[in-house]
Amino acid sequence: MGRISFFRREIYCCYFIFMWNSIEAHVRYVIPEELRGGSVVGNIAKDLGLDFSEVAVRNLRIASESGKQFFSVAAESGELIVNERIDRESLCGYAVPCLLPLEAVVENPLQLHRVEIEIQDINDNTPSFHSNQRVLNIPESINPGAKFLLESADDPDVGSNSLQAYTLGSNKYFVLNVKTQDGIKIPELVLDKPLDREKQATHRLILTAVDGGKPVRSGTCEVKVIVLDINDNAPQFEKSFYEANVSENEPIGNEMVKVSAVDLDEGANGEIEYAFADKTSDALKAVFLINPTTGVITVKGKLDFEQANLYKFDIMAKDKGNPQMEGHCSVKIMISDINDNAPEIVITSLSSPVPENSPNNTVVALISTKDADSGENGKVNLTVASGSPFKLIPSLSNRYTLVTTGSLDREKYPEYQIKLNAVDSGLPTLHAEKMVKISISDVNDNPPVFSQKSYTVYTRENTVHGSILCSVSAHDPDLGQNAKISYSILESKVQDVYVSSYIYINSDNGTIFSMHSFDHEKMKVFQIKVQAKDNGSPSLSSNATVHVFIVDQNDNAPAVIYPSALMGSVSHQRLPRSAKAGYLVTKVTAVDADSGHNAWISYRLAEATDASLFTVSLHTGEVRTKRSVSEQDDSSQRLLIEIQDNGEPVQSTTVTLDILIEDAFHEPISDFRHKNPEPDQKSSKITLYLMISLASVSFLCLVTFFVLLIKCARSSRGSSTCCIRRSDGESKNHNRNLQIQLNTDGPIKYVEVLGGDMMSQSQSFGSYLSPMSEFSDFTLVKPSSTTDFTNTLSVLDASLPDSTWTFESQQVSIYFNLYLSKMC
Ligand SMILES: *[C@@H]1O[C@H](CO)[C@@H](O)[C@H](O)[C@H]1NC(C)=O
Ligand SMILES: *[C@@H]1O[C@H](CO)[C@@H](O)[C@H](O)[C@H]1NC(C)=O
Repeated sequence: MGRISFFRREIYCCYFIFMWNSIEAHVRYVIPEELRGGSVVGNIAKDLGLDFSEVAVRNLRIASESGKQFFSVAAESGELIVNERIDRESLCGYAVPCLLPLEAVVENPLQLHRVEIEIQDINDNTPSFHSNQRVLNIPESINPGAKFLLESADDPDVGSNSLQAYTLGSNKYFVLNVKTQDGIKIPELVLDKPLDREKQATHRLILTAVDGGKPVRSGTCEVKVIVLDINDNAPQFEKSFYEANVSENEPIGNEMVKVSAVDLDEGANGEIEYAFADKTSDALKAVFLINPTTGVITVKGKLDFEQANLYKFDIMAKDKGNPQMEGHCSVKIMISDINDNAPEIVITSLSSPVPENSPNNTVVALISTKDADSGENGKVNLTVASGSPFKLIPSLSNRYTLVTTGSLDREKYPEYQIKLNAVDSGLPTLHAEKMVKISISDVNDNPPVFSQKSYTVYTRENTVHGSILCSVSAHDPDLGQNAKISYSILESKVQDVYVSSYIYINSDNGTIFSMHSFDHEKMKVFQIKVQAKDNGSPSLSSNATVHVFIVDQNDNAPAVIYPSALMGSVSHQRLPRSAKAGYLVTKVTAVDADSGHNAWISYRLAEATDASLFTVSLHTGEVRTKRSVSEQDDSSQRLLIEIQDNGEPVQSTTVTLDILIEDAFHEPISDFRHKNPEPDQKSSKITLYLMISLASVSFLCLVTFFVLLIKCARSSRGSSTCCIRRSDGESKNHNRNLQIQLNTDGPIKYVEVLGGDMMSQSQSFGSYLSPMSEFSDFTLVKPSSTTDFTNTLSVLDASLPDSTWTFESQQVSIYFNLYLSKMC
C-alpha cells in the first residue's frame, strides 16, 4: 500500500515537471530513485510530440551520456521505462539536484532531443557509523564538563533525508552535545556528573544518529565508557571490630580470627596488605602474627592467661595504590583460662617449736595458698594429712591457720612432719604438697622416775666409812635442764639419829655412801628415802625407798648364860656317886649376839679330869655322865667346855665346870622327890603342859610358815625377796611392824621376822634355818633391841626359871604369841 501511494506521488511530480519543461522544450522527468526495473517514467513519445505509430518506425531510442543505459523506450507505447534500479547516491553523491542527462534519438529523420531526468532522493540510506562501538577510557577522577569527541555518522542521503540529529541513550552521567563544523554535525560526550568506577566501571551508551526522512532512519553506535580506576577508596574492613576467644594453651600457629577488608579499587589500588597498626607494641607482635595477604591472625608465642587475659589491638589494611590508602579495625582476643598452674602453698608464719603443753587450738602456722589460675581453676582446697594432732582452720580467702587439736607430747613425738596437700578445682585438678616440720619443745612435764620403786641394799656391818652402799638412778624423759636430775636424801630419823649422819648421797649420780660403819647387832635394817629432782621450773621430783640391810658379821663370841659366869670363873656342880650312865649333870647354855650361822653354837668338851666319865651334847650343851660313877672316881672333877659359834672366823669361849661327886648327897633328894609325890607330880605336870604348849606352838609355827612360804612363792615368783608388812593401827600399845623376809638365795634359807614399835624402838627377831635341818630346828630366837645385850641376858636370867630349855621355849612362845596376835 505504502509503495503504491509513493508511486502515485511520483507520477504527480513527473507531470508537474513535464509541464514546466515542455516550455523549455526540454523533456524533463523527475523520478525518485530506486524505481524498479520496468517502472514507467513517462510517455516520452508523446512528450516529444511523436505519434504513437512513429515510435516503432522512427526507432525512438534513448542514449545515455554516461554510457550506462538506465532507461529504455517501450516500442509499442513509447513509454520511458526504467531498465534498472537507479541509486541516486551512487550517481550524484551529495550533489543536488541529481540530473541524469539523456538523449532521445529518433531516426527518419534523425532528431535528438534532450531529456533530463532528475532523480530525486528518497530516504533509502540510514545514518551509519564507521564502527558500531566506540570505546572511551575515562579516569574516574575527571571533572564534570569534560568533553569527549565522538564519531559522527554518515548518511548519503541528502536534504531532509540526510543526518539530522544525534541522540544519546538515557544515562546519569553523560549528556550529548552536537557541534557543527563545516556543516557537519559532530557529536560530543559531555560528563555531567562525576564518575565512580566503584559504582559503575563501564558505561554503555547508545548514540543514535537520526535523519529527517520519512520514515525516519537512524543508526546507532555503542559508546563504551571504561572508567579508569583511581585509588580513591581506602580498604574497608568487613567489621570494624573482631572478637575471638581462645584458650591459653592454644598451640602456636593456630588460627584465631580472620580479618578481612575490601578495597573497591582495582588492581594495585585494590590489593590489600594486612599489618598490625603502627602503634602496636612489640610484646603483642611477639604473641600474634598476621598473615599480610589473608588477614588470618595466628598464635605466635605462648599465651598465658595469667599474664594477660585480654588483648586489644588494631589491624591496618593498606592498598598498593599511589597514594596508599589504609583502613583499620580493632581486634579483641580474650584468653580463657586453662588449669595450667598448680596451686602453691605458702607458709606465712610458722611458730616452731611448739611447747608440748600447748592447749588445743594453739596456732602453729599461718598458711596461704595461691593459684595463678582463675575461677574454679584457681580455687584451692588445702588439707592436712590425718594422723597428726593438727588441723587447718580456714580464715580469709585462701588463708588457713594450722592449730593443734590434741595434746602434744615431746617425749613421744619430738617433731612432726606435716604434709599439706593443696588441690585446685580445675579439670583435671592440679595439686601441690608441702611438708611442714614442727618441733615440739620440752616442758617439764615428767618427773624423774627411779629405776626401782624401792631398792634393797645389803651391807656388811663394820665396813669402813665412806664405802659405797649402792647407787640409785632415776631417768627423766624430758630434755635439757628439765631432765637434769639431782639426788638427795629426805631427812628422817633412824633410832633417833638423822639419816644424814649415816649416809651421804652424791647428788649428781645417785651413789650412796655410808658415813660410818654399822653394827648389825644394833641395827639390822633401816630405810632411807631418796628424792630425785629435776632442774625444770617448776621442778618435779619423785621418791624411792632404799632398804639397807646390815648383814651380820661374826663379830661376837658366844656368851655363856648358864652356869652364870658372874659367880666366878668356875661353876660348881654336884653329882651323886650313885649316878648312872646318862645322868644329866648340868646344861651349859650360851648365846651369840650374832645372827644365823654366826650364832649357831656348838658345845664341846675341851678338857676333863676324866674324859671317860662325861660327855657334852654338841647342840644342847647338856653335860651327862658317860657311865656310872664308880667308887674309884675322883670326887672332884673339872670340865673345860668350849663353846663355838659357826661364823667365819670361828669365835669361841670356854666355861669351866667343877663337879663334886658326893656319896650320899642325892639320896635324900631322890627320896625326898619320891616321898613327896605332890611336888614331883606337880612338876611333871608342869613339864607336861610345857611340852604340850611347845608342841602346839611348834605345830602352829610350822603351819604358819608353810602358809607364808606358799603365799610368798606365789606373790613373788622369781623375786628373791618376799615382804609382808603389816601395821596395826588399832592396838595402841602394840603399834608394831612385822616383817618376814625369806631369802632363797644360796644354801641358807633365811627368814627374818622383824617387829618394831614405831613409837619407841624397833625390834627384830631373826631365825635361821639350816637347809639340812627341819623347820622345828630353831636354834635361837631372841629379841633384839637397842638395850645392851648383856642387860637383856641378865634380865632374862633373873626372870626365867632355872631351866635352859624353858628359857628357849618361853622365848619361842613369846615370839609366836606376839606374831599370832599380829597375824590375827
Ligand atoms: C658417782 O660419783 C662418785 C664421786 O665422783 C664416784 O665415786 C662414783 O663411782 C660415781 N658413781 C657412778 C655410778 O658413776
Ligand atoms: C617425797 O617425799 C616427801 C617427804 O616425805 C614428800 O613431801 C613428797 O611429796 C614426796 N614426793 C612424792 C612425789 O611422793
